[in-house]
Order: sequence, then structure tokens, then C-alpha cells
Amino acid sequence: METANRESPFAGLPLAGTNWLLPPMGLGTWAWGDSSTWGMGSYDRSYNFETIREAYAKSVAAGIILLDTAEMYGNGESERIIGRLLEEDTSNRDRVLIATKFIPFPWRLPLRTKLLDALRASLDRLRLSFVHLYQIHGPISLCSHESMADALAEAVNSGLCKAVGVSNYSERETRAIHTALSRRGIQLATNQIEYSLLRNDPERKGLLRACEELGVVVLAYSPLGQGRLTGKYSAKHPPPGKRNFSAYPMEEIEPLVAELRSIGERHGGKTPAQVALNWLMCKGTIPIPGAKNGAQAEQNAGALGWRLSNEEVRHLDRLAKPGRYTFFLRFWQHG
Ligand SMILES: NC(=O)c1ccc[n+]([C@@H]2O[C@H](COP(=O)([O-])OP(=O)(O)OC[C@H]3O[C@@H](n4cnc5c(N)ncnc54)[C@H](OP(=O)(O)O)[C@@H]3O)[C@@H](O)[C@H]2O)c1
Repeated sequence: METANRESPFAGLPLAGTNWLLPPMGLGTWAWGDSSTWGMGSYDRSYNFETIREAYAKSVAAGIILLDTAEMYGNGESERIIGRLLEEDTSNRDRVLIATKFIPFPWRLPLRTKLLDALRASLDRLRLSFVHLYQIHGPISLCSHESMADALAEAVNSGLCKAVGVSNYSERETRAIHTALSRRGIQLATNQIEYSLLRNDPERKGLLRACEELGVVVLAYSPLGQGRLTGKYSAKHPPPGKRNFSAYPMEEIEPLVAELRSIGERHGGKTPAQVALNWLMCKGTIPIPGAKNGAQAEQNAGALGWRLSNEEVRHLDRLAKPGRYTFFLRFWQHG
């Protein structure tokens, strides 16, 4: 397959403090090895290691060489699967960029020691000597930004990771950790946030603008509304499992999906998923859609290589929803 990246109107963005370029789109791997939300080994019988291998191969072949994982995903299983795939894939493994995450539960103290131990454990599962990007999974630590920056700086200085990022941070928190890291000579590389046509709060409330001002790349998670924007779910056939992000009832999402479909038709039959991902790239962010098999990965890669018109982007802006929050998400998502 031709590298879609090379033809894409979306330029890659630098990974701060390194010579690597992040691709215009990444691949989310929360579902890999996870049963309760994503059905591996439970409700989704068609989903297994072989289908994951296809998702990986199709993505990398299309230039989607950023893989996002976390120590929490499948209790480490997502990282283990990636480790296995990278070991098998001798021709590509040196160009694949791995981003993983530390979950800073308030009881994980002392922070510096726990973070470095967790990073080493992630590296063991990934079978790597360093990760390209190490992220703080959510703003739930009770430690100061200065302490967090100390721990992250040590992770970089020890060579265990090459760049650092955060996730679910608000504008205020992003500015604070950015300043604390700058004092240690480190640029905050990324803020990974839920951003999609089902949650445009980060744009409406100024977080996107602040990240741009600070030179922080936005990684847009749940960019397909956990499958709700792909066109395969409906009010009669809602998504299975516990998909808590973007959890608007499908009745409210159907008109938006119909509009995505009609815009896609004007672009030679692009699917709702491809249009939804393209909108995020038009906003200067890097979507990281999850894929469980080769067909999904291939379809998502079809969001590269073309772009929506400015008028279509503005039209979709008017249809976008602010975001839907449960009590847990209010606590988790500050940005
Ligand atoms: N930092 C955080 O707090 C946080 C939170 C959430 C996610 N994330 C990251 O963001 C990544 C993506 O988010 P997400 O997985 O929650 O949601 P998503 O990318 O919006 O949706 C992914 C799911 O949609 C379905 N799908 C994907 N492509 C499809 C296609 N072309 N056609 C039909 N169905 C398709 C698949 O599930 P089914 O086939 O089962 O429908 C897939 O697992 C995660 O993997 C993770 O890396 C981070």
C-alpha cells in the first residue's frame, strides 16, 4: 500500500525535544487485550490477536506510525501485545513511535519512584529500552506540578523516554506543567484529550488555542465517539460494552452521522469515520482512533490524503456537540 502520509495535505508535527515527526494520525490501542469495554474474549467473538496484527500492519503500511497505549489498558496487555508485534515486525519497528501513560493515583507515592518504576515495567512489557512519549494519564495526582515535572524530567534525563506529555489536563493545568517542565529545560510535547464532533468543548473553551500558543500538540482521543460516528451503530443497534466517553444516545447522533455520510459522498465516497477524522486533522490535532481489525484500520487510514473544504469544516462545527459528562468523567477530564 502507498504511504498515505506522503500524499496527505496534513503535515506531521514535531515531537518536542526530538528529531521525530509525529504522523498526522495515530492508532489508539486501548481495545487491545481489553475485555470489559471492548469485548476481547467476551462479547466480541471476532476480535483476537490475529485481527489486531492486521490492524497494526495496515496502519503502519499507511504511515500511521504512532501507537498510543497505557499501563492501564487491559492491565498491561495492550503494551504486551505491542511488544510482541514490534518484535515480529523487524522491517518497521525502528520507525514506529510508542506513546504510553502513567496513571498517577494519589496513593502512588513517592511519585518519582513510582513513576520511574512504572515506566520500567511498561518498557519490559513493550520489550523496548525507551518510549518516544511518556504521558501522565489524567490530572488526578495530589502532588504539585513541580513534583510531577521533577519525576518526568528524571524519566527524560535517564533516557527511558524521549518526550513527555499529559492527558485530560485543563488549560490551567497545561500551563502549570508546561511552566514547571520549562524550568527544567523540557518542552511539554502533548496533551491528549477527548476531542471529536461529539466533544468540542476543548475548542469552545479555549484549550486548543492555549495548546497551540504553548507549542503543545493535541492528541485527540475517542475521535470516532467510541464507534458512534462510524455509521455502524444506530438507536436500534447501539454500541455494546461500557463505552462511557461521548455517550450521547444514538438518536441524538444519527442526524450528525447522516451529514457525515453526505459530505463523504461529495469526496468520492468517504465514510462517516473518515470525514470525522479528517475534521480533527483540519483543526490541527492528531486523532488516534482505535482499530480492532485490518478493515477498521484501513478505513481509518482513508482519512488521510485529502481534506474537507473550509466551508464543510464550518458546517460540521455548527453540528458538533459540546460533550457529555458522567460524574466519573467530570473528575477525569479537566480539559
Ligand atoms: N487518555 C485517555 O483518558 C483516553 C481515553 C480514551 C481513549 N484514549 C485513547 O484514544 C484511543 C481511541 O479512543 P477510543 O478507542 O476510546 O475510541 P474511538 O477511536 O473513537 O473508537 C474506536 C472503536 O470504534 C470502532 N471502530 C474504529 N474504527 C472503525 C471503523 N472504521 N469502522 C467501524 N468501527 C470502527 C471499534 O470498536 P467496535 O468495533 O467495537 O465498535 C474501535 O475500537 C484509545 O484506543 C486510547 O489509545 C485515551
